[in-house]
Amino acid sequence: MSGKKINEITVLAPATVANVVCGFDILGFALDGLFDKMLIRKTSKKGVTIINKDDYNLPTQPSKNVIGAALLALLKAVPEEIGFIVESTKIIKPGSGIGSSAASAAGAVVGANHLLNNRFTKEQLVEFALCGEEVASGSKHADNIAPCIYGGITLIRSASPLDIIQIPSPKLYVTILHPQIEVKTSDAREILKKQILLKDAIIQWGNIAGLIAGLMKSDYDLIGRSLMDVIVEPVRSILIPHFDEVKTKSMAAGALGGGISGSGPSVFFLSKNEKTAKTVEKVITDVYKNIGINFHTHITTISKQGVKFI
Ligand code: HSE
Repeated sequence: MSGKKINEITVLAPATVANVVCGFDILGFALDGLFDKMLIRKTSKKGVTIINKDDYNLPTQPSKNVIGAALLALLKAVPEEIGFIVESTKIIKPGSGIGSSAASAAGAVVGANHLLNNRFTKEQLVEFALCGEEVASGSKHADNIAPCIYGGITLIRSASPLDIIQIPSPKLYVTILHPQIEVKTSDAREILKKQILLKDAIIQWGNIAGLIAGLMKSDYDLIGRSLMDVIVEPVRSILIPHFDEVKTKSMAAGALGGGISGSGPSVFFLSKNEKTAKTVEKVITDVYKNIGINFHTHITTISKQGVKFI
């Protein structure tokens, strides 16, 4: 696409798993094969127009829409009199816990940046997209936005100023359970304790450091030992029906570890190979098929790529 001026682009923005068990608000990874789609058109009319091409009935007023708020933030940094029209087809269900709002916000700003000859850095794009995330969840956490833009696994060492580090990883398979219930991120954040005990902090930062070391050394045992959360999961797991049973059985089936994806209700487990990921999917399905809650499962891998263009 070099040289030629383009005024519209179609982007695919991946689903993401935030927190990665022990890294509340600081760790996340992008998923292969689960995307939102957006057609973004640059116009000479100022402002943002949102056209929903799905049945989710999301607000179209730009300041109340994740895509709109992210693009309005980006437009503030653009001196020209321009705007964007976005046709949004959401495939990642809002409120699913696999980064639906982040996909909208990140996809929009990455696409818009492409139409502006990539004048902004990835970090700037994260800042803009965070304004969209805030509309959805009331908080500017970057642990879905960053992997959605950078791809792979990302560590948010600092949110302000932003310091994002890409973490290499060995091949990992991801089994996702998405119960068809809604957990609002704002509610799931509200119930968290505002203070933690030093003894819990010590366990938690040991696990975060262990997980990063395990990923970087391709040490599956260390990854598995480190996928433990003594701070957030004990509080939030009550929001997810049969969480303990799903987790116990997935671990017995050979998963390295796993837990709540972002603020839920989705749950994820990491496995060393596809066969184990499928066994985990089966045990999860066996638990959920008898409890009267609709659900979907997916088996995928960590995507090395973030938002992409088609
Ligand atoms: N880190 C955020 C949370 C992710 O757990 O509240 C929400 O998607």
